[in-house]
Formats: sequence, C-alpha cells, structure tokens
Amino acid sequence: MSDRLNVVVGITGGIAAYKAVGVIRLLVLAGHDVQVVATDAALRFVGKPTLEAISRNPVHSDLYEGVSEVRHVAIGQAADLIVVAPATANTIAKLAAGLADDLLGNTILASRAPLVLAPAMHTEMWQNPATVANIAELRERGVTIVGPGSGQLTGTDSGLGRMVEPDEIVAAALAVVAPKDLVGKRIVITAGGTREPLDPVRFIGNRSSGKQGIAIALDAAARGAEVVLIGANLEIAAPASTTIQHLTVSHVSTTSELEAATMAAAVDADVVIMAAAVADYRPQSVAENKIKKETQGDRLTLELVRNPDILRQLSEARRDGQIIIGFAAETETNREKLLETGRAKVVRKGADFLVLNTVGWTEGFATETNSIIVINTAGDIVSEATGSKSSVAARILDLLS
Ligand SMILES: Cc1cc2nc3c(=O)[nH]c(=O)nc-3n(C[C@H](O)[C@H](O)[C@H](O)COP(=O)(O)O)c2cc1C
Repeated sequence: MSDRLNVVVGITGGIAAYKAVGVIRLLVLAGHDVQVVATDAALRFVGKPTLEAISRNPVHSDLYEGVSEVRHVAIGQAADLIVVAPATANTIAKLAAGLADDLLGNTILASRAPLVLAPAMHTEMWQNPATVANIAELRERGVTIVGPGSGQLTGTDSGLGRMVEPDEIVAAALAVVAPKDLVGKRIVITAGGTREPLDPVRFIGNRSSGKQGIAIALDAAARGAEVVLIGANLEIAAPASTTIQHLTVSHVSTTSELEAATMAAAVDADVVIMAAAVADYRPQSVAENKIKKETQGDRLTLELVRNPDILRQLSEARRDGQIIIGFAAETETNREKLLETGRAKVVRKGADFLVLNTVGWTEGFATETNSIIVINTAGDIVSEATGSKSSVAARILDLLS
C-alpha cells in the first residue's frame, strides 16, 4: 500500500488478543495510523499500556468516554479500514445482527470502511450452526474473513479455529484496500539469499532475510497480480498461499536451484523481480562428510567457482514486453559512486531497472526498513524511496503501473 491509512484495529476477548499486538505493530511499521478499539473482554487478555505503546495512540474501549467528540461514531467515520483481530464468536454474532452495545460495535456500524475479521475460537464454536450462519451472513455483506487456520488452540486441543498469524492478517487486510492496478500481470519475485554448501552441515551464504522480496510479493498480490514468490532460505515465514490470494510460493536453497526455478517461472511472466541476494561463487566441490579440523590442520583453503548470473540470463531470454528488475546490494555509501556502480551494472546485466540499495553491518539486510534508488537502462534515476520495506515495495511496483 502506498498511502498512509487510518486503520481501526478492533480487539475482542480471546486468548489470541495477545497476537493483536503483532497486527498493530506491523501496521504501524508499514506507516499507517492505528486506532485501537478494544472490548472490555479484550482488556482482560491484553493491557492498555501495551496497546497504547505499540499503536502510538490512546486506546478506546468505553462507549461513554469522549462523548463531547462523539467518539462512538467519529472513529468509524474516519477509518479507511477496520480489522478485528481476534474476532470472538460473540462479536461475530453481534456484528451479524447489527448490534451496537459497545464502542467497537458502534465504530463498525458508523463506518463505511471495508471490514476484515480474523476469527479465533475453539473448533466447536467455529462450527456451531449459529457461527456458521453469522459468518455466511457477514461474507454476503462483503466482510472479508481471514482464516481461521488449524493448529494448537488454547489448552491441549488443536483443530480449526486458531487465529492466523499477524502478518497474514495484515497482508489480507491491506489487500482489500489496495489499488488493483496490476490485475492480469504475472510477476515472478525472488527473495532471500542463496546458500552454497561446503559439506553436509555448513554453507557460504549472506544475511538477506527475504523481507524486502516478500513485501514486494505481498503488495503485488494485493494489487491483483498473479505472483510467484521463489524464496531462498527465508528468515521469516513465507506468506501462506491459503490466506493470500494470487500468490504461489516455492522454496529453493542454492544458486543453481534458484536459477532453475526462476528461469522456468520466467517463461510466461510479464515481470521478473530479482530481489534475492545471490551468491556470486560456490565451492568447487562439496565435501561428502563434515570437514574436520583434525584432518585440515590450522588452515583451510576453499576453492570457489563463479555461479551463473541469473539476472543476465533472464535479460538474455527476455520475451517481448517482459520487464526485468534487478537488485544491487552495495556497501558503497557515497551516492555518486553508488550510482556509478549501478549504471555500469544495469548495462552489464541488461535489466530494465536496477534497484540500488546500500547494505552493511546494520543496513539493508534483515532490517525492517530500506533505502533504495531505482535506475533505468539509460542510468536515469526513476524512483527513490526510504521507509518500511512495504512502502519501498509499493514504490518499486508503482514503476510497473
Ligand atoms: C480464557 C478465555 C478464553 C476465551 N477465548 C475465546 C476465544 O478464543 N474465542 C471466543 O470466541 N471467545 C473466547 N472466550 C469467550 C469470550 O471472552 C466471551 O464470549 C466474551 O463475552 C467476548 O466478548 P467480546 O466479544 O465483547 O470481546 C474466552 C473466554 C475465556 C474466559
């Protein structure tokens, strides 16, 4: 999502209320203004100070507080999006009936914003005919229901009814309000960093977490593109294709696996975005058994050979009209020198765009934010962005639309 949204996060009284903190945090980090409206029951599960600190706003729960500012309708009227996570069976029933006996009910009834619910409850409650009918009614009215998933529930039992993870809730919610400017486009995105094995237990790798590539994949899917995400050793969980529409995820590890998967996926893609950090070299041979210091002594020399240049291969195999976007992670901090390196690279690689980002011990890799400059084949700067990885993702995809 590109713009700052007013998002209301409604929290209701279930154990999963603690996970709402993650939902709020992700929305705030993505640059949105978050107003939390909690039910009385929710505040028995999670404390106001936590919610206020994470949302950076006062938390509202009392219908009769802030009466002079007509809070019972003001929050809902100002909302661009309302996400209720977790949504209890009780609140789902009240929403289906149109009840407004608390601040959350009033906020939702007084709003025209899209409503997204992330139900959380025991399997019996979720499958109860009353809940089934209420969910069907809400879906019918255009409410988006995210999950629930299957897994460990409160207590010892497990089954359907578990609230899906915060990142999936946020991605699904933002997808509801995203502009649909990439509908019909097939986009292949690589993320993470390749690893080259030395022996069965060790590898040469890099610190790329995959966060930037995943953010691009989620935004592209939200904007309606058919997305193939190829993850190389992602350090965060890949988004689940079950909750995110238009997204297929596959996993690879080495550069040659990434090469095979990317080249195959690129055949019918409109756009390929190579956000993965690819190892330039790999060990010439991989030891069958663990390399031991007892046999190696004080020094160990590794012979490395060049890996295939996937970006260049993609450019060479480019179909008519296909757009290839490369990433160049550089430690150069001088802007002019960074651009100079980028201009030479974009020509060498034959990409349509090159996203330059400065990486270092504390920058770029595995962080929540990123700073990029995008140049085209001619070396002109076509975009610049600094901020959360999702806002940077949106700027990169804006180039396509
Ligand atoms: C320990 C505990 C856990 C609960 N977990 C859930 C839950 O996960 N889902 C649910 O629908 N209700 C759950 N409930 C019941 C709700 O808290 C109860 O229905 C409450 O009235 C919901 O109020 P609210 O919808 O206004 O937040 C739980 C109750 C307790 C005591």
